[in-house]
Amino acid sequence: MYKIELLSRSHDRDNFDCKSEPLNLFLKQTARQHADRGISRTFVLVDETAVEPKPVLGFFSLNICQIESEILPESLSKKLPRNVPGIRLGRLAVAKTHQRQGIGKMLLGAAMEKFLEVFKTAGGIGLFVDAKDANAKSYYEQFGFVPMPSNDLELFLPVSTIEDALKT
Ligand SMILES: CC(C)(COP(=O)(O)OP(=O)(O)OC[C@H]1O[C@@H](n2cnc3c(N)ncnc32)[C@H](O)[C@@H]1OP(=O)(O)O)[C@@H](O)C(=O)NCCC(=O)NCCS
Repeated sequence: MYKIELLSRSHDRDNFDCKSEPLNLFLKQTARQHADRGISRTFVLVDETAVEPKPVLGFFSLNICQIESEILPESLSKKLPRNVPGIRLGRLAVAKTHQRQGIGKMLLGAAMEKFLEVFKTAGGIGLFVDAKDANAKSYYEQFGFVPMPSNDLELFLPVSTIEDALKT
């Protein structure tokens, strides 16, 4: 049975491999430091029956961000003040042994739920993500993320899309 947990010492970060070294290194070297300093939070997916340190099967990180509304599509930006709050999905990765089994989709669903928790207490116009390449971009687009007019690899998932996705 899979479970999503806040990254802690009970997780085996060292053996995680998603085939992207920057993402592997983020989990191994940076994620816990960032959490301690309030820069971002990282959540990991584990098998809840695993023995500690539990192997990490996938992870995502979130941080609070501020966006200049002029980067948004005009239909959205014209109703907004100059600077608006959002949540950034800073990292998303699945272990190479577990890719293409629906775990990325599961992690995105969990990130959307975390976004809604923040939205209900402090607002935020949606989830932002920087896709690392065209392949990652098309991955995010299938979940309703829209590319920014000024930067094709920066995508936005509006709160309305998140609410609809979590209703179904
Ligand atoms: C990209 C990544 C997070 C996807 O996670 P995953 O668990 O392998 O993907 P899922 O099983 O959730 O895939 C869901 C759907 O996306 C499709 N898909 C999977 N990887 C895709 C990709 N790279 N591009 C486009 N579509 C993709 C699948 O076909 C699946 O569709 P289906 O359910 O209709 O068959 C994962 O492959 C990964 O960690 N890659 C290396 C790191 C990376 O590129 N991270 C993105 C950072 S910007």
